[in-house]
Amino acid sequence: MNKSFKHIETATIHAGKIKDEQFGALTTPIYQTSTFVFESAEQGGERFAGEAAGYIYSRLGNPTVRQLEMKVAQLEGMQDAAATATGMGAVSAALLTNLSAGDHLIASKALYGCSYSLIRHQLTRFGIEVSFVDMTVSGAIEMAIQANTKVVFAETPINPNLDVIDLDMLGRVANKHNLISIVDNTFLSPILQQPVKFGIDIVIHSATKYLNGHGDVVAGIVCGSEAMIEQIKLTVLKDIGATMSPHDAWLILRGLKTLAIRVKQHCESAQEVAEYLQSHPKVKNVYYPGLKSHPGYPYMGRQMLGAGGVIGFEIDGGIDDGKALINATQLFSIAVSLGDAESLIQHPASMTHSPYSPEERLDAGISDGLIRIAVGLEHVDDIIADLDNALSTIPQTTQEPHATSQTIADCA
Ligand SMILES: Cc1ncc(COP(=O)(O)O)c(C=O)c1O
Repeated sequence: MNKSFKHIETATIHAGKIKDEQFGALTTPIYQTSTFVFESAEQGGERFAGEAAGYIYSRLGNPTVRQLEMKVAQLEGMQDAAATATGMGAVSAALLTNLSAGDHLIASKALYGCSYSLIRHQLTRFGIEVSFVDMTVSGAIEMAIQANTKVVFAETPINPNLDVIDLDMLGRVANKHNLISIVDNTFLSPILQQPVKFGIDIVIHSATKYLNGHGDVVAGIVCGSEAMIEQIKLTVLKDIGATMSPHDAWLILRGLKTLAIRVKQHCESAQEVAEYLQSHPKVKNVYYPGLKSHPGYPYMGRQMLGAGGVIGFEIDGGIDDGKALINATQLFSIAVSLGDAESLIQHPASMTHSPYSPEERLDAGISDGLIRIAVGLEHVDDIIADLDNALSTIPQTTQEPHATSQTIADCA
């Protein structure tokens, strides 16, 4: 790992930089090559045997991808990282490396839909036992621990209901029972939350989201100890092949330079939008940890420096009015994903969380009427005006306006 930086804003720009000895390029070039030429047969053999440093083949490693890995590892405060083709590549690499037939996994009941599907429908096919627990309930993880429990997996805030899991509790329980803890930090990015500070062993990201920030890449990354990342790369990534392309790594490196200012703006705008929605008579519930009324609010400042850019809410009239609202927006794009410059709106029950059965969804606290918005970087007045206009097109209800909660002055 190269030199470390005192401030994360500086690290997003400079960490992991590989000096271009040949031409002195300011930005790392895209090493768009599938393979690397050996000086001799002997050198090739030595690289394969791990006796000589150097690149072999881009599925196994690439200089542009390596720069990204070193940068994100430093941002998360972890020893090393492995970049993957997608966020799901990162989730599967972390889980498949650490679980074998006969092992038991404790996973959060509410998760991004495909993480849930991987655990519920794929891992169980290979003899891995799974318990889904509500990790917001005190003592729930310890109650689920069995003699063969190996890994505990969570995301916080949870996609899409924005529940917050106590990372200090998670780290302590995992440590006490010698479990490997994995946290998906996609919703907040290392600017707002660094799970390693709470003893979490592995941190994963869908780099598709805030890390890249421009909606033009699907990618993922796993951060952990040097030994863990070596294991992930040499076993699962090498053999399963969910490797990131150098061009995608370069785009994410470019996106990362503005991560801190983007995330700050996402937070500030989302706070205003959440307060607006909470005061609107046609909105029944708003889920955003930056609102004082949200159960995750006490974790603000303690484990998260801001609440992020994603908000969940329910319309008083239910699902049909919710869909009418989505269709009536104009500035928002009806699309899944988050962390982009564009504001996005979607319906989790029929989109991102459709891998859950209706019963499983309800049990995980994801109602059919829930709408998820990812607040973008447009002017916040324009975002609110679009929602206001869309809300004006759906039928009036009798409900009184909700109390507006106070703002968090500095969310990033
Ligand atoms: C929290 C979370 N984790 C993982 C993923 C999967 O990432 P990707 O779509 O890059 O595979 C997503 C995607 O939305 C997500 O929201």
